[in-house]
Amino acid sequence: MLEHGELKMQLELGPVSFLKDDREVKQGIRRNFARRARSYDRHAEMQRRMAHGLVAAVGESLARAGRILEIGCGTGYLTGLLRQANGEARLVALDLDAALVDAARRRLGPEAGVAWLVADGETPLRGEYDLIIANATFQWFTRPGETLAALYRNLAPGGVLAFSTLGPRTFQELAESLNQAGRSLNLPAIPPIPAQGFGDRETWSDRLYGAGFPQVRLGREMATATFPSVKEFLQALQATGATNPRPGQFSPRLLHALMAAYQTNYGRDGAIPVSYEMIWAVAEKS
Ligand SMILES: C[S@@+](CC[C@H](N)C(=O)[O-])C[C@H]1O[C@@H](n2cnc3c(N)ncnc32)[C@H](O)[C@@H]1O
Repeated sequence: MLEHGELKMQLELGPVSFLKDDREVKQGIRRNFARRARSYDRHAEMQRRMAHGLVAAVGESLARAGRILEIGCGTGYLTGLLRQANGEARLVALDLDAALVDAARRRLGPEAGVAWLVADGETPLRGEYDLIIANATFQWFTRPGETLAALYRNLAPGGVLAFSTLGPRTFQELAESLNQAGRSLNLPAIPPIPAQGFGDRETWSDRLYGAGFPQVRLGREMATATFPSVKEFLQALQATGATNPRPGQFSPRLLHALMAAYQTNYGRDGAIPVSYEMIWAVAEKS
């Protein structure tokens, strides 16, 4: 059984886009991922899968690009794929957090010739790019519409914006079990988990057209990971840093009830399922 303090879940409070203080949220996101710089790679199998899907979705535009900007490089997994596919491009990779940028820099080494930057991908950037790309990052944006419009302006004519992101059905078993746990303890309405506030495919499509892109392709796939127990899933979630950027109180009683509901409703053959809704988008500037 999970001991109090062994795992402090950060699930409560609403989705990031509902939160008022943008700077505070950004600091929360940065802190969550930064703390996990060492453990992220061991637990980020789904993100790696998304990165390969993204590279496949971008196709020829990647090899052709002379100037590439990667947003949210994290520990540099996608950055490495980008370099393998295109050894010549001027490649700029940025992340909110310095510890992650350092990890990515170490992973690729100086010979990769990447320009590393600690920056918020949502603040207006200078420069013009043929390809702007991001893996499993845009779901954390707090001003996605505005940011897409700004990135559109950073693209050269014919340039491509390509990203993968997670949709609102990600961790749906967790959301459902949390609600059930709240009801079983007679708690007032439990706020949604952050994933429930992520944009779905239609929302991203509208945002991209709204930002000025005349051509947009989107794909979506549900995938299921399995974990030996709810506790191990929650630990893995913490290890990737993909938890609530503004944590509040989460009582041991609620945590216990959540784990019991999850296990009872979804546990089969010594494992529990965890859903991921993966979305890919490729948009071209005319
Ligand atoms: C799930 S990780 C993905 C990391 C990497 N792209 C990968 O595929 O392994 C999300 C990353 O996005 C970064 N991030 C979140 N919001 C960001 C923002 N506004 N600007 C730059 N980076 C951001 C986080 O610091 C974290 O490294």
